[in-house]
Amino acid sequence: MIRKSSVVAAVALAAVAFAVLHESPAAKLARLQSRYGAVAAELGAACPYAAPEDRLAFDRCRKSLFGESRLRAELPERMLWGRARGKPLKDTPLTEFAPDVYAGLYAPLFMFEGRAEVSYDEGERLYKATLPVRFRNRLAPGLFPYPFWHDKTKWGAYQSATALVFYLRPGDGRIKAAQFQPGVVDAALAAQVDSDVAAFDGQWLWTDAEGRTQPQVTLFDGLYDAANPHLQQIDSRYRELALELREGECNDCHVPRNPKKIERLVLLQTPAHAAGEIKRILRSVRSGEMPEDENGHEKPLPPAVKARLLAKAEAFDAVLSEARAWEANKAATRR
Ligand code: HEC
Repeated sequence: MIRKSSVVAAVALAAVAFAVLHESPAAKLARLQSRYGAVAAELGAACPYAAPEDRLAFDRCRKSLFGESRLRAELPERMLWGRARGKPLKDTPLTEFAPDVYAGLYAPLFMFEGRAEVSYDEGERLYKATLPVRFRNRLAPGLFPYPFWHDKTKWGAYQSATALVFYLRPGDGRIKAAQFQPGVVDAALAAQVDSDVAAFDGQWLWTDAEGRTQPQVTLFDGLYDAANPHLQQIDSRYRELALELREGECNDCHVPRNPKKIERLVLLQTPAHAAGEIKRILRSVRSGEMPEDENGHEKPLPPAVKARLLAKAEAFDAVLSEARAWEANKAATRR
């Protein structure tokens, strides 16, 4: 028997679907404005303007965004990130990120005014939300996903950022690509950029004076519970995998310097970056799609190298699953 209430629900659902499919541009704009207005308000509350070196403000912000935030809910399985260069998205190099990486390591580097303005971008033929921001440029080096100061233009652009722009997917309205808008680099900032760039020693991952792996944020430090018993294993399993990635020449292409000028870059040089891509690493190496050569053709690994890489990637994947399960279990028992 079909219950009357379920018929009513089905009719209501169909009405909503019809309304969304046939809504006017003005109605769509209003709907996206209210949706991203709420995302921006939450960002403004969790990550308000503060001093650029304020560690506590940064920690509050990243914990909140990494958790069940509205921002995270708007991130698809994979999004694109990079700086705006005054060119169409299709002609702009961008990096691909899993939600954990963007919500936990990148978005929290910004402080948010708390508002968003949604408009239609005629060039991209996409709706976009623009959020005024400032950048936390005085945090300790280990709180950045990697030293952005490896590149002068990039470091100046990040520090002068005035806004984030989220380009929205036509279908579900989630974030297809996000860019930060660079502002003015004045003489004082330019001088500081020069000295930071000169101090960069070429390492994406390093060990600090206390013997800890840095950048610490890439080990989920402060995102996962300090009592999570798998954190140490994430570090050692990643280091073992990293040796094999080097052996497989993956670092010739998949590093922030982007030596091969890849248009849609995948990063593998830290535990967090590789964690976001571990399923794709396994799939592309198993199938022989990766590594590739200069011309994009498959470049088969010697069988022993391939077997070792896969074994280390599987071990890293396994410890990540355990760490996530531990966090999920902790959250469940707390409820
Ligand atoms: C010569 C440059 C180069 C080398 C070396 C290389 N890659 Fe890639 N990789 C690319 C490019 C370009 C793409 C994006 C386009 C594509 O899929 O071909 C890519 C894409 C990927 C992706 C995303 C794949 C997907 O599912 O879309 C992964 C994961 C990856 N590479 C892993 C690796 C690993 C692991 C190694 C080392 C064993 C490696 N790559 C070596 C250039 C390279």
